[in-house]
Amino acid sequence: SAIPANAAPVTVTVTGAAGQIGYALLFRIAAGDMLGPDVPVRLKLLEVPQAVRSAEGVAMELDDGAFPLLRGVDVTTDARIAFDGANLALLVGARPRGPGMERSDLLEANGAIFGPQGAAINAGAADDVRVLVVGNPANTNALITRAAAPDVPAERFTAMTRLDHNRALTQVAKRAEVPVSQVRRVTIWGNHSATQYPDVFHATVDDRPAPEVLEVPEDGAGWLTETFVPTVAQRGAAVIEVRGGSSVASAANAALEHTHDWVRGTPVGDWTSAGLVSQGEYGVPEGLVCSFPVISDGGPALGPDVARWSVVEGLELSELSRARIDASVAELEAEREAVRALGLV
Ligand code: NAD
Ligand code: LMR
Repeated sequence: SAIPANAAPVTVTVTGAAGQIGYALLFRIAAGDMLGPDVPVRLKLLEVPQAVRSAEGVAMELDDGAFPLLRGVDVTTDARIAFDGANLALLVGARPRGPGMERSDLLEANGAIFGPQGAAINAGAADDVRVLVVGNPANTNALITRAAAPDVPAERFTAMTRLDHNRALTQVAKRAEVPVSQVRRVTIWGNHSATQYPDVFHATVDDRPAPEVLEVPEDGAGWLTETFVPTVAQRGAAVIEVRGGSSVASAANAALEHTHDWVRGTPVGDWTSAGLVSQGEYGVPEGLVCSFPVISDGGPALGPDVARWSVVEGLELSELSRARIDASVAELEAEREAVRALGLV
């Protein structure tokens, strides 16, 4: 193949590797769909003891793919080993809400996962480590991870809202009856939850303003507030109901795209959405992990000086948008208060 045998591989750590998203994600990473066809990867899979044998089976199948870019697969139950030398950390494994679990129980159980994983990232990850939290509640799990990794710059911690972003793109494309490739600059604001605000006011369809094409008034009356926002915000629940299980392949695809764009850059003239640690943009309190419109100036290679997300600034927000964003941010603040009370951040 064209890939030099001595090219240094990028170390990618994936948690929850024996889970559903793990199974949909790992083979595509190995195939080069995440970092590009010229970047060799080494995979490190973290699982809990009950699932580690299954993760070993996944590693066997990865071997059996004979992927030219794959330079090795390690499986471990030890977070310190898993994150040692990690350039990219995809935190997929999380504690789902079980019967009779209160919200505080859920946050506490996830604190027990993401706190130690953050500490392990702090202790041993590569200097250029970049972290994507997929496991729910993703924004607050990212907050916990970051709090446990004080030596890693805040900008390296992200929570996934790319699936919501992609859902919004498709809903707009269907409404406008255009291919999804003709839709740009939608935004997911806030939390990866039912309070998220998918925003089309700065979007374009065939390079024309989306509100004009979609006939959306400034107060959002009609399709926007009655159909679009609830469809996107409740799509995860709708898939669970129809498919009989939560989104898996679409979530894995979104994790790949988030990471790809972070490392290799967003297309010129477009942006995407990601949960980033707020620096106060758009009045969002500092330190909250909130979804914003973002671009990355990612370069051809990983490195501490390239590939940064930055928030697209200066967008004017209508009264409707402001109120919806504030409501989702209020939920993020309440989650932060709850994990503070538990001593997790
Ligand atoms: P899953 O239950 O199939 O897999 C999760 C895996 O994580 C399991 O194998 C479990 O053993 C493992 N795990 C649990 N604790 C761990 C730990 N401490 N270390 C390592 N591994 C651990 O679930 P899934 O369908 O793969 O989904 C994973 C997560 O992604 C869930 O929290 C889900 O809610 C979330 N999700 C997020 C989005 C998003 O858009 N952000 C979309 C879909 C799903
Ligand atoms: C999704 O957006 O599909 C998931 O986060 C839903 C869920 O609760 O797992």
